[in-house]
Amino acid sequence: MKTLNEIRSTFLNYFDAQGHQIVPSSPLVPRNDPTLMFTAAGMVQFKNLFTGVETREYSRATSAQKCVRAGGKHNDLDNVGYTARHHTFFEMLGNFSFGDYFKAEAIPFAWDLLTKEFGIDPNRLLVTVYHTDEEAVKIWKAHTGLPDERIIRIATDDNFWSAGPTGPCGPCTEIFYDHGDHIWGGPPGSPEEDGDRFVEIWNLVFMQYEQFEDGTRQPLPNQSIDTGMGIERVAALLQGTNDNYATDLMRNLIEASAHASSTDPDGPGKTHHRVIADHLRSTSFLIADGVMPSNEGRGYVLRRIMRRAMRHAHLLGVKDPLMHQLVPSLVQQMGAAYPELGQAQSLIRETLLLEETRFRQTLDRGLKLLDDELSGLPEGATLPGEAAFKLYDTYGFPLDLTQDALREKGRAVDTDGFDTAMAAQKAKARAAWAGSGEAADATVWFDVADKSGVTEFLGYDTESAEGQIVALVQGSDQVDAAAVGSDVQVALNQTPFYAESGGQVGDTGVIRTQTGIVNVTDTRKSAGVFVHFGHVVEGEVKPGQTAVLEVDRLRRSAIRANHSATHLLHEALRNALGDHVSQRGSLNAHDRLRFDFSHAKGLSQEELTQVEREVNDYIRQNTPVETRIMTPDDARAMGAQALFGEKYGDEVRVVSMGQLEGSGKGSDKSTYSLELCGGTHVRQTGDIGAFVLLGDSASSAGVRRIEALTGTEALAWLREQEAALSRVAAELKTATSDVPERVRALLDERRSLSNEVAQLRRELAMSGGGAAAPEAREVNGVKFIGQVLSGITGKDLPGLVDEHKAKLGSGAVLLIADTGGKAAVAGGVTQDLTDRVSAVDMVKAAVSELGGKGGGGRPDMAQGGGASAENAEAAIAAAENILKG
Ligand code: SER
Repeated sequence: MKTLNEIRSTFLNYFDAQGHQIVPSSPLVPRNDPTLMFTAAGMVQFKNLFTGVETREYSRATSAQKCVRAGGKHNDLDNVGYTARHHTFFEMLGNFSFGDYFKAEAIPFAWDLLTKEFGIDPNRLLVTVYHTDEEAVKIWKAHTGLPDERIIRIATDDNFWSAGPTGPCGPCTEIFYDHGDHIWGGPPGSPEEDGDRFVEIWNLVFMQYEQFEDGTRQPLPNQSIDTGMGIERVAALLQGTNDNYATDLMRNLIEASAHASSTDPDGPGKTHHRVIADHLRSTSFLIADGVMPSNEGRGYVLRRIMRRAMRHAHLLGVKDPLMHQLVPSLVQQMGAAYPELGQAQSLIRETLLLEETRFRQTLDRGLKLLDDELSGLPEGATLPGEAAFKLYDTYGFPLDLTQDALREKGRAVDTDGFDTAMAAQKAKARAAWAGSGEAADATVWFDVADKSGVTEFLGYDTESAEGQIVALVQGSDQVDAAAVGSDVQVALNQTPFYAESGGQVGDTGVIRTQTGIVNVTDTRKSAGVFVHFGHVVEGEVKPGQTAVLEVDRLRRSAIRANHSATHLLHEALRNALGDHVSQRGSLNAHDRLRFDFSHAKGLSQEELTQVEREVNDYIRQNTPVETRIMTPDDARAMGAQALFGEKYGDEVRVVSMGQLEGSGKGSDKSTYSLELCGGTHVRQTGDIGAFVLLGDSASSAGVRRIEALTGTEALAWLREQEAALSRVAAELKTATSDVPERVRALLDERRSLSNEVAQLRRELAMSGGGAAAPEAREVNGVKFIGQVLSGITGKDLPGLVDEHKAKLGSGAVLLIADTGGKAAVAGGVTQDLTDRVSAVDMVKAAVSELGGKGGGGRPDMAQGGGASAENAEAAIAAAENILKG
């Protein structure tokens, strides 16, 4: 028996041998098709190769593609568990030709693989063709010898395949397997075709046309091939069953569910196990591809699938959360073919556990309410929409979960009533919002959100994607087009552009449609809508158009690095300064980061160095940055840092980074930094590159601010510092390493030189500035020296006065220093004369001549200052007058 894993590799190897490139599955969230909620066929990732918009090195490809059909156009959720072949998650095997081979090769490839490689009995196979496709009929006959009655012409859309309302499309031929007349059913096209006897196993599409929005259809530049085979179906027939859930892989998951719930896999809980096995696959793969449970968009589809599985787990009678226990079995089954599953294993387990723990808190009460409602209704009556809405709103029962629960009782829900109740709630929210004082021009975004829903953010996983323009706004009005040269605000159904929040700046980049280009200069959020502020630089853009969205990658990676570094910085500050440190504000731009935090005094050099070193240690540790979704309470219980006073919704993202040697935060007690954060982060701490702390300053009372750089900006800054140091070293004619010592030596030298200069000046002044030493003259019987000096400072004066006094033996001195602009005055009287005359009086008299005021000291020594030395002679004369009495 071929296992499912063997079937997959046989298929891929077969086409590999036929010159096809084996291409890995693309993510479940399509990057290049904004009309799709989830990837639902193998061709999705190749869409642009068919239309010729994109070319690659290969023109033949083969893949095993993860697909989810649980939301949007393709939705099989309701049937899962109750039928043999419906899944929310399945794998599609396919081979593709992009203008290389066409029908004449595609048909033999498929036939030979089925009959030779897989050894399927050709007599059990039959095919359908589009009713006008005689070419295909001819090829089938020539290659396989199938008789006419086993080549069935179908005139309906069943044999004309298109990915959606627009895009590549063409006639197809489908291969069916006849499970035998012991099973009820008829061949395709017959009234009994819905039976299980004839099962479609492979669809070969002859891609020939491109369908446009206006309804026209043009031939493709190249005729191409797109085939799709559901691996579960082919595995079923190769394993001798017509029930996909009896194949090895699904059976193993069912047994894991039976084992974990201690129930019989084939007993009364059979349907529950099937639901659980299927939903385990879709939820785990969606989480591995970055979808998180939420109340909007894709996240809500994930939540619906999870909760549907969790109700079935509850119905099995298990007391504890079940789903997360099954993840290892799934990884064991599928981890080799899809490595992303193993990588995300702990995230998947945690997400399932938290969701199930939470949901179980309301599940019992919700089910009781449902029973009460039903018991009050007449037999078989539908459940009123109001009741279904209450289950949704209060107990977290998605509508399809309620429908699933009622299905077992043969009942339905009044969905119109549910919609009415939902609309009434939205109207209430709107009224509350209108009264909340938001800017009037923001109402336009509320209208957009009302009509088109909030924007789905794809930017945690990608920086480029396609989106559909849902509205264009100029000023505060919606417009039908925006032409070159105009400013415009663009809203799309999904976007990789981050809208400014939590200190992280909005993304910039480019939006391109078939008719125009918008340069995006900022992205912000209003009423849940991501508003891309831009300028039309080419052509025009219109609502409804599909757009290619490219975030400026370099800028975004620099922003990521700064944001992640901010988290490390926060933790390092707490370690260095204490637990009182908490975030008060932050800015994560592309060229710098700023972090404000509560702390009363400036940081010492040692503290700054310790913080910078610790951040760099965790950067070099280069461990993965992990993100989880949980309730704010759970996050806080884990020790996550939350912004003080911030309001959080039902769910928060928790970002963790860094591994501790000893004990740390988080359930595993080994996480260094754990923060509530909606921003974008590096994948590994090493991606931050480097961290340079520029300094710390006061931001406001009790709040300090740190500014820092990371990555290339940090390196550029270090380079600049180094260049400056090199310039200094070159000036000093020394090696950069010797600069500090040289500078110290120079400063010492400077100090002793200036001492020497001061000494010399004094000596020069005493000796009369090189001219003859001043003569003492007799004034009123007292020897007096009056002198104006330049080239010295006021500080030198008292020393000089003392020296003159010593030389005179008995007398009075008045010295004026012309300090260039100002004047300093000092006067002295020898002790024997202080009874007759006071130095203070002499100085005061001189000072007033010099345009100054005051002057003071003792009778033997006084000092003062004047505005200028211009009237120095008059000042000396004034001092002499004092002597004269
Ligand atoms: N696109 C076609 C399908 O999904 C064949 O791959 O059936």
